[in-house]
Amino acid sequence: MRLRLFIVLTLIAAMLSACGGTAPTTSPVATVAPYRDPAAAIAVRVEDVLQRMTLAEKIGQMTLIEKNSLTPDQVRELFIGGVLSGGGGYPSTENSPAAWAEMVNSFQRAALSTRLGIPIIYGADGVHGHNNLYGAVIFPHNIGLGAANDPVLVEQIGRATAIEMAATGVFWNYAPGVMVPQDVRWGRTYEGYAERPDHVATLAAAFLRGLQDPDIVAPNRVIGTPKHYLGDGGTAWGSSTTENYQLDQGETMGDEAILRAVHLPPYRAAIAAGAQVIMASYSSWNGQKMHASSYWLTEVLKGELGFTGFVVSDWAAIDQIDPDYERAVITAINAGIDMNMVPYDPQRFIAILTRAVESGAVSEERINDAVRRILAVKFAMGLFEQPFAQTELLAQIGSAAHRELARTAVAASLVLLKNEQDLLPLPKDIGHLYIGGQAANDLGIQAGGWTIEWQGRAGAIFPGTTILAGIQAAVSPQTVVEYNEHGRFTGDPGAADAVCIAVVGELPYAEGRGDSASLSLPSGEQRVLRRMEAACARLVVVLVAGRPLIVTDDLPKWDAFVAAWLPGSEGAGVADVLFGDRPFRGRLPVTWPRSLDQLPLGSGNGDPLFPYGFGLIP
Ligand code: BGC
Ligand code: BGC
Repeated sequence: MRLRLFIVLTLIAAMLSACGGTAPTTSPVATVAPYRDPAAAIAVRVEDVLQRMTLAEKIGQMTLIEKNSLTPDQVRELFIGGVLSGGGGYPSTENSPAAWAEMVNSFQRAALSTRLGIPIIYGADGVHGHNNLYGAVIFPHNIGLGAANDPVLVEQIGRATAIEMAATGVFWNYAPGVMVPQDVRWGRTYEGYAERPDHVATLAAAFLRGLQDPDIVAPNRVIGTPKHYLGDGGTAWGSSTTENYQLDQGETMGDEAILRAVHLPPYRAAIAAGAQVIMASYSSWNGQKMHASSYWLTEVLKGELGFTGFVVSDWAAIDQIDPDYERAVITAINAGIDMNMVPYDPQRFIAILTRAVESGAVSEERINDAVRRILAVKFAMGLFEQPFAQTELLAQIGSAAHRELARTAVAASLVLLKNEQDLLPLPKDIGHLYIGGQAANDLGIQAGGWTIEWQGRAGAIFPGTTILAGIQAAVSPQTVVEYNEHGRFTGDPGAADAVCIAVVGELPYAEGRGDSASLSLPSGEQRVLRRMEAACARLVVVLVAGRPLIVTDDLPKWDAFVAAWLPGSEGAGVADVLFGDRPFRGRLPVTWPRSLDQLPLGSGNGDPLFPYGFGLIP
């Protein structure tokens, strides 16, 4: 059915292009243009379609619009090259796999009905699974995977994420984050794997291999986007000029040698692993926005590193270059941005870039270079041949196999930081368990930001297993489990056969809204800890957080301490380790500071509470 529609559209497009007189048709039977021939070399296909394109069609290819700001008709009229779902960008009808597939397909049908029938590429942030989709498996955020530090596991997660995304037609993933966070107060710390470039490089390459696995359906069916180039993890506190952000989108510290030594290596690794798109960073260096830097974007990335794919801007990031939008656009495109994540107003960007080309402020050669790069990626992905959602994969969304993989990843990510008298693992036939903390029983909290909504949200916002439910399922039928969010118990948590588990966490956040001056728990969770410290004979603390928090003064009151990061939908993975079904094997991917004045990394202020790489293996 879909295939037949596609063939019909292809024929119509070919006929229209022949009637337009632009196709250099040599034979009357040559109804299929060379660019439509999957057997032709990509370079041949690119040149063939490029020489058929008008300036409007070329600039359309360079335009990436958020789906709520665009109708399928506009995709057709403006020759739009890319459409995206931002954080929380699920369909307005219903957040279901079928509605996603239909939403993406409706934009795609419009693109295919244009004169040349160039497919759109549809993108979203699948930073821990296809995380805007209700029912998708939510994997641990990257910092947890950094703790597990298992490239095979990360590759499998990349592959599972690609399958769930491809099922809905989202063939472009704005992941992996390859930031190298140097200051854990940053609200994007959890999007990075680790504070060390080699650690990040290894896992980022593994994720890309899995995501871009040629076996999924077509070659490189889902493509990744290492981000944000360059230096996003190295900004200075207080240097941001966005909202009330402190670190995020700020100014990267250090000289060129630091940028090259700390922040660049993951990009080299990602390119070697087949990265085809790279997202530029909101941040600045030496007072210049990365989006304006022809040195970093063109000379280093496309020249020195030999990156042949395309560079996409971040969300409205070009707007930040200059208050005069025309100057901003000219600067960014000339610096080497190939596709602009506009995201709201396609006409304004298109009109301004068109004028810039007509005036010579942006050369046609630069436009052709950008469009060549974009088209080459689209051809390599097989988008011209298979533009629609791979609905035969729909059954794998949220599948038992993907959940089992996520559960394994959760278990592998836990880091045991303290374990007095070998309290952990706990016996399953323990008499009484007293469990407190909001984070014990809250899926939204255990998933963090970039989950259903941009900022994430506390509550049962997607299907999954809470940490509490995982514990309840793990213990023996005789075990009495008492849960109270506030840590107020009716039984006696001080009794000899009792163990307490406080599962406390940060509330969800994303990007600069999560920049934190205090690195402390919400006050409610702090009160839970105080109550349980006072009442419990033995206390295990499980921290659900996107980064280390300052726990120095509290730690002596805890018998055991586990960092669980942001585990995602499969909370049972936490219980697996607490009760010994799987071993503790995680190690800190970031240094755990003793006090705030030890930040950022390398500030030279004394020894940390736990060093990078620390993790008890009982
Ligand atoms: C973020 C990117 C993200 C984009 C699209 C931006 O605000 O910085 O990481 O890919 O939005 O959601
Ligand atoms: C979008 C995100 C984006 C952010 C940037 C939000 O409205 O949903 O995807 O990253 O804006 O500020």
